[in-house]
Amino acid sequence: MHMMNSISSSSDMGDWKGRVFDSLSFPTLILKPDRTIIAANLKFFERTGMAEAQVIGKTCKQIFFENEDPEKFPCNGTNCTLHKCITQKNAQSIVLKEVHSNNDQTWEERVFSPILNDVGDVSYVIESLRDITKVKTLEKKYSDVRQLIDKVVQSSVSGILAADRKGEIILMNEAAENLFGYTVENANKVNIEDFYPPGIARKIMKSLRDENYGEKGKLPVTKLNILTKAQQEIPVEMTAAIIYEDGNETATAAIFNDLREKYAVQKKLEEAEIQLYQSEKLASLGRLAAGVAHEINNPLTSILLYGNLMQEKLEENHPLEENLKYMIEDAERCREIVKNLLAYSRQTRPSKDIFYLNDLVGESLRLIRDQKLFMNVKVVKELDPQQILVNADKNQLCQVVINLIINAFDAMESSGTLTLRTHRTPENGTAFLEVSDTGGGIPPENISKIFDPFFTTKEIGKGTGLGLSMAYGIMEENQGKISIEDTGPDGTTIRLELPEENVSNEFHFGSIG
Ligand SMILES: Nc1ncnc2c1ncn2[C@@H]1O[C@H](COP(=O)(O)OP(=O)(O)OP(=O)(O)O)[C@@H](O)[C@H]1O
Ligand SMILES: [Mg+2]
Repeated sequence: MHMMNSISSSSDMGDWKGRVFDSLSFPTLILKPDRTIIAANLKFFERTGMAEAQVIGKTCKQIFFENEDPEKFPCNGTNCTLHKCITQKNAQSIVLKEVHSNNDQTWEERVFSPILNDVGDVSYVIESLRDITKVKTLEKKYSDVRQLIDKVVQSSVSGILAADRKGEIILMNEAAENLFGYTVENANKVNIEDFYPPGIARKIMKSLRDENYGEKGKLPVTKLNILTKAQQEIPVEMTAAIIYEDGNETATAAIFNDLREKYAVQKKLEEAEIQLYQSEKLASLGRLAAGVAHEINNPLTSILLYGNLMQEKLEENHPLEENLKYMIEDAERCREIVKNLLAYSRQTRPSKDIFYLNDLVGESLRLIRDQKLFMNVKVVKELDPQQILVNADKNQLCQVVINLIINAFDAMESSGTLTLRTHRTPENGTAFLEVSDTGGGIPPENISKIFDPFFTTKEIGKGTGLGLSMAYGIMEENQGKISIEDTGPDGTTIRLELPEENVSNEFHFGSIG
């Protein structure tokens, strides 16, 4: 037995105490109030590898911290745990961390327990050393896991919310804060019931407890509306669960995914599908119309040819003269319709020419037959002083510009200003022609539709809704673009864009021709 000069006498009783001391599973020291060690148990010698002479009669500081920087002593002055144990006459403990050369860490808890004499003074102190590395490692692992879970919860793009039995919010991640518009701080004043439209929270709890609805305590993915702080209803997909502890409900947790974006994409997709269906339908209609128009064109030409011949040969004041005149007039109307149909289905190919963009403006204005339109409208021309050359089908482009001008007049109804503007970007060689009006603008819901064939807001007989859709097709065929540059209550600007033809190209063109 290593215990020498023990506190026990050599009686049976003392021997018994000595054996207990030695069989303690923690390395243990017994110290006097003057801090000298009077005994150490077997476990102590085993653990430290020290010999009795190195321990007995020494102070705790000497054997543990002899070579340490005194500044770092955990037992300096009144801060010393042993000192506290002696002065306060109660058990004290301290946890010491040691980092080893291989970076391993160990933790030891030193527990100091006073042994009091009959008058209540400290006669000895028992210091036991407990290796708490395992506990500490587990604790750290647990706290690491907790931190990780916290991070996972916080960084989740899904809103995560937990409420206690009373419905008070106990957890809310950032996504939930953003979704509901509350912060964790102000959410604790709100009951979970206020996170849903009236009655919904109760329904959720009922379904959660219902064994026939998903597993008991669990709500399968459900679509519903939540209510934000600003009283806005937002569609979400949610799952929820009751958290049980020892069979009792302690909290509920729920995960929310905002469905607004998904629904918006879905709607866009549906719209695109409808649009595709419509344009396919219109394209086949266009082909049919073109086919019919083409077939009718030949017989129509001969009707007109023979009709005109007959008219020439008919004697004056012939009773059928008038009938024949009507027949020819109507055949001519048919020819106009056929021409328009062919133009719409773009059976006519562009025949390109190089010309000055500014000329297009003047020519288009001249070609507008109904000059009455100009009566109350001021026409402003803002033409680029530098001549801009383009290579396009001038007749087709005139059609486009006339269409835009008539649309502008229609938008201004009785009076306003029509501005025709040309300019270019020297960098990428693009030429622009803009038609602006001071009309009421295109309502936002119509913006995506105005280039659709047959889309018109004009009364029956006034517009066919083909103007802009033809313009779109013509611009495409001429390697150009048409777009709404600006629209609002103060007016609309439609912009035509064409690649600029540079002089060297013109020369090249000229040399071939
Ligand atoms: N400058 C504009 N200001 C306001 N709305 C416009 C303007 N230009 C076009 N729109 C709107 O776009 C619709 C489609 O125009 P588009 O030129 O294709 O057909 P339309 O003018 O109605 O008929 P059409 O040109 O075949 O006679 C118009 O009915 C109108 O609602
Ligand atoms: Mg039009």
